[in-house]
Amino acid sequence: MHQNALTETPAFQALTRHQAEADRWQLRDLFTSRQDRFSRYSLDAAGLFLDYSKNSIDDTTLSLLMDLARERGVEAHRDAMFGGERINNTENRSVLHTALRAPRGSRLVVNGQDAIAEVHAVLDRMAAFVERVRSGQWRGRSGKAVTDVVNIGIGGSDLGPEMVCRALRSYSQPGLSFHFVANVDGHDLDAVLSRVNPETTLFVVASKTFTTRETMMNAQSARAWFLQTGSEADLAKHFVAVSTNTDAVRSFGIDPDNMFPFWDWVGGRYSVWSAIGLPVALAVGFDNFRQFLDGAHAMDQHFRTAPLESNMPVLLAMIGVWYRNFFGSGSVSIAPYHQDLGQFAAYLQQLEMESNGKRVSRSGQALQVETCPVVWGDVGTNGQHAYFQLLHQGTDIIPVDFIAALKPTHALPGHHAVLLANCFAQSEAFMLGKDADEVRAELKAQKLTDEQIATLLPHKVFPGNRPSNTILMETLTPAALGALIALYEHKVFVQGVIWDINSFDQWGVELGKVLAKNIEPEINGAPRPEAHDSSTNGLIARARAALSSSPA
Ligand code: F6P
Repeated sequence: MHQNALTETPAFQALTRHQAEADRWQLRDLFTSRQDRFSRYSLDAAGLFLDYSKNSIDDTTLSLLMDLARERGVEAHRDAMFGGERINNTENRSVLHTALRAPRGSRLVVNGQDAIAEVHAVLDRMAAFVERVRSGQWRGRSGKAVTDVVNIGIGGSDLGPEMVCRALRSYSQPGLSFHFVANVDGHDLDAVLSRVNPETTLFVVASKTFTTRETMMNAQSARAWFLQTGSEADLAKHFVAVSTNTDAVRSFGIDPDNMFPFWDWVGGRYSVWSAIGLPVALAVGFDNFRQFLDGAHAMDQHFRTAPLESNMPVLLAMIGVWYRNFFGSGSVSIAPYHQDLGQFAAYLQQLEMESNGKRVSRSGQALQVETCPVVWGDVGTNGQHAYFQLLHQGTDIIPVDFIAALKPTHALPGHHAVLLANCFAQSEAFMLGKDADEVRAELKAQKLTDEQIATLLPHKVFPGNRPSNTILMETLTPAALGALIALYEHKVFVQGVIWDINSFDQWGVELGKVLAKNIEPEINGAPRPEAHDSSTNGLIARARAALSSSPA
């Protein structure tokens, strides 16, 4: 579907004019002038609650943003994705992570096959395997049950399972530990191997392509480590694979019977719902894994059927577009007030930035507007004591997504109210700020002299008017987490449609991979034509000298 330039659409132009007015608004005034802001600008969907009232928006803003969504064809694109059309045009692929969480019995024919039936066939195999490992029936080479699972994968074959295993920690089976090795830096694998016993360790080699250099190298090293004490015949008890590439799995030496497949219509960063989620299912059990899929499916149904005006992913996306394209905000901060969501921001970095970090349209034209902002963040309350200073008083306006669960999954008294108080206080402080009159009155009450007040005052003023969303769930259950991830997936999708981006390819990661292939032999001592620029030549020479003199 070819698009006209975004800036030429009537809604974009109307939003540009409207922004000139919105730029003068103060959020605190918007709250005073409309008492119903919270109820008006919040909604529930799929077990999540979104409060988007602390944004520089009013009814006109939202109506214009929805006009823009309609003009860009969000509904038609959404239906094309769910229907299995090949919307990943540069790879000629369907985009069907939503089929991975569809209930048994629904039907979707892709490439002549019923995708949902295939999905459930693999889920059934995963369920049986998970049961054997968790019950102790699956035995290692010396007859002992599995105590440690090591996932070897990178990008989408690492971030999803690792983030979700950590998020659902309180649902995990005691006695089974999970480790994630992604980096080709041998320190990563070394640190894990030094903690596990080869007799009771199960390696899951996870790679969509089964060609990724980092994963293949880590898998080979893990295999060599295993063979120091075990035999080739024992490998099948300790290595399983998750991939779309059966031939490569076989030639690596893993029996295809120990392989859990998925399909080219699952993007790496959208794959935690597939067999890539095997470590999650091993950790929390298959019923909980199914709940995780069901939570995402509930969000899919909401996204598919709710009118744009009350569609949570659409609202989140369009408010993001408002700040990115009309206020020039270059970054978005994610602040989960839940320790178990400690890797959620890192997960979203790949989801958002690998999907929408693009500068040309689906048809290859240079885009005239800014696209994906930088996504970053860390858990509250820790961030408050580190970088929140910049969010409150820095020169950039950075919208924040606060995420919290109303109830904890621990039993420690008192903590949760303090945590939630901090979460709500931060969004209130961002919105309200503290003006010069308030600061002056406060300093006067502390009996400071006029001179002292004049010196301190500018430092103690908070400009406020800083926007945020708050996403709440009852507790961080598998279903709530599933819905939360799907919410962001669909947000990314909608933004991709607005910007006319193919959100499902990632050509930008290729160049570095190719150049690394040239440099690696040069570092290892191959004859070198000094073919690079002086900086790269100099760096290679230093590494070459250091490695040739190091004992390792
Ligand atoms: O290099 C980027 C990337 O292709 C990601 O998109 C992907 O998630 C990651 O590498 C890992 O790929 P694979 O699962 O094929 O090893």
